Amino acid sequence: MLLIKLGGSVISDKTEYRRFREDVVWRIAKVLPKEDMIIVHGAGSFGHILAHKYRITEGYSTDKRLGFTKIQRDMMDLNLRILDILVEQEIPVVSMPPHSFVEMGKELELKLFDSLIAHKFVPLTYGDAVFDAAKGINIYSGDLLMQELAKRYKPEKTVFLTNVDGIYTKPPHEDGAELIPVLRREKDPHTSITVKDVTGGMELKIDVMREIAKHSKVYIINGFYPERLENVLNDEDFVGTVVL
Ligand code: IPE
Repeated sequence: MLLIKLGGSVISDKTEYRRFREDVVWRIAKVLPKEDMIIVHGAGSFGHILAHKYRITEGYSTDKRLGFTKIQRDMMDLNLRILDILVEQEIPVVSMPPHSFVEMGKELELKLFDSLIAHKFVPLTYGDAVFDAAKGINIYSGDLLMQELAKRYKPEKTVFLTNVDGIYTKPPHEDGAELIPVLRREKDPHTSITVKDVTGGMELKIDVMREIAKHSKVYIINGFYPERLENVLNDEDFVGTVVL
């Protein structure tokens, strides 16, 4: 099985509210397998801008209700656009909006995923604004969903499509940053990366990837070069990072 995340900065232009990168998603969709796969997508500018504006991760208050609603609407909009493209590629996807099955702080209910997989459908899910047992509301990131799904289904390969070539020794735009082709699952104190976003910085992302690497081979590759995804799927040499 393949578990893949389409990062928000790949499928959207993070700087402009609700700017979808349709051409990029088309190019990725063309190289995806038709079955034996779970797809997760991020939010990019369909989620992070309003999540930040309404300070959703700080929890519930009545004045945040409309923000919560709008994020869910925008994420459903993004999800439908992606779903459309995947269906055009004849991938039997079924959309699973997290706000209807996730309550943070409680055990994740994945029974419907079991059924979908048993029937050879391809679950399509995403980072979302959801309920939280302690805070009322919160943001549930696609990365955490990836972690839960990897733990449950132990896919052979787990792929993160991002807007950079892989994991670097320091933030990629800084002088002397080097791509790490193979990252060991155990912590390496020399690799520290500090890019931040609403649902946690790069460091948290790398922790998640290391955790997933207990169950699966984890690849971090640039989503703007779908041929690299093909390389990974075909067990060929590829540009990116593998976590072992
Ligand atoms: C965030 O999900 C969800 C919302 C902000 C609604 P992710 O954290 O997985 O999204 P990206 O990939 O960073 O954009």
